[in-house]
Amino acid sequence: MGRPKITVVGAGNVGGTTAQRLAEKDAYDVVLVDIVEGVPQGKALDISQAGPVCGYSTKVVGSNGYEESAGSSIAVVTSGMPRKPGMSRDELLATNAKIVSSVVTELVSRSPDIILILVTNPLDAMVHVARNVSGLPKSRIIGMAGVLDSARMRTFIAQELNVPAPDVEAMVLGGHGDTMVPLPRYTTVKGKPISDLMPKHRLEAIVQRTRDGGAEIVGLLKTGSAFYAPSASAVDMVEAIHKDQKRVMPCAVFCDGEYGLRNVVVGVPVKLGKGGAEQIMVYDLTPDEQKALEASANAVRELCATVDRVMTN
Ligand code: NAI
Ligand code: 2OP
Repeated sequence: MGRPKITVVGAGNVGGTTAQRLAEKDAYDVVLVDIVEGVPQGKALDISQAGPVCGYSTKVVGSNGYEESAGSSIAVVTSGMPRKPGMSRDELLATNAKIVSSVVTELVSRSPDIILILVTNPLDAMVHVARNVSGLPKSRIIGMAGVLDSARMRTFIAQELNVPAPDVEAMVLGGHGDTMVPLPRYTTVKGKPISDLMPKHRLEAIVQRTRDGGAEIVGLLKTGSAFYAPSASAVDMVEAIHKDQKRVMPCAVFCDGEYGLRNVVVGVPVKLGKGGAEQIMVYDLTPDEQKALEASANAVRELCATVDRVMTN
């Protein structure tokens, strides 16, 4: 039996780096797809040629079509357009929704058992689109955002306290945007609650910096957005699924009653294993945390209503 095949759609910053990180695991066959001729092929060749130096022999194939993706166990979807000058948010939403819709249709028609990890923004709305067009069970349509947002919070805490970043645990729920819900009560350093380790005002500053984490990087890069931590987060999710690790990670999934949220995609703690999003883990929330999660879910609902409207026009 060959290695499991992982397809990465979109060979830009996030997609190219995701393919590279997957290749370095030396555990998968990787297919990289993009509409721009030569780019996925060139990046695939370049990543392959790093193999002898880095010690992997991963087969990496680049393509402008989907034939090579047939039989994929997981796909990471990063294809999309950045917002261009003069383009409204709704136009961007419609453009990316159409891209994600066609990409997901192509993937699922060739790999009916596939698990989709969506990355394209606006993230929660793109998971909603993938759910509408794919016909896949909700456990196999998963959005990447909470792992990234939590990683940002963990990094800021580690820097503040001068402790190793992997020793910090954090959980950021809600939509991937201004309404995200970092949960300081579930944030610990080697089991010690964060409230015992730093004053309230410093923690509040870190929570706000986490909410602004994507914009901070856009502001520094000037062109483009973050891709090292986003690709690392997507690959961590691939590994949790592929290795059936049953790790609990915050992911954007369809909620059907959990946390009192019905019929909406939002970031919640999820157990990831070979079945995909195998179980939504329900944490106790205070009334304020619950209110913040509901507000975030409502913001996603509005975005999804706009997607549904622009997609039918
Ligand atoms: P990028 O612009 O570098 O790459 C996007 C790629 O998608 C381009 O190479 C483009 O040619 C390709 N593409 C466009 N239409 C396509 C189609 N129909 N089929 C196949 N490929 C197509 O952008 P980057 O930085 O890689 O970001 C990708 C997406 O991920 C963006 O929507 C970004 O906002 C989002 N993102 C989401 C994060 C999250 O936490 N969920 C974190 C970081 C980025
Ligand atoms: C981020 O959070 C742009 O969503 C992307 O960096």
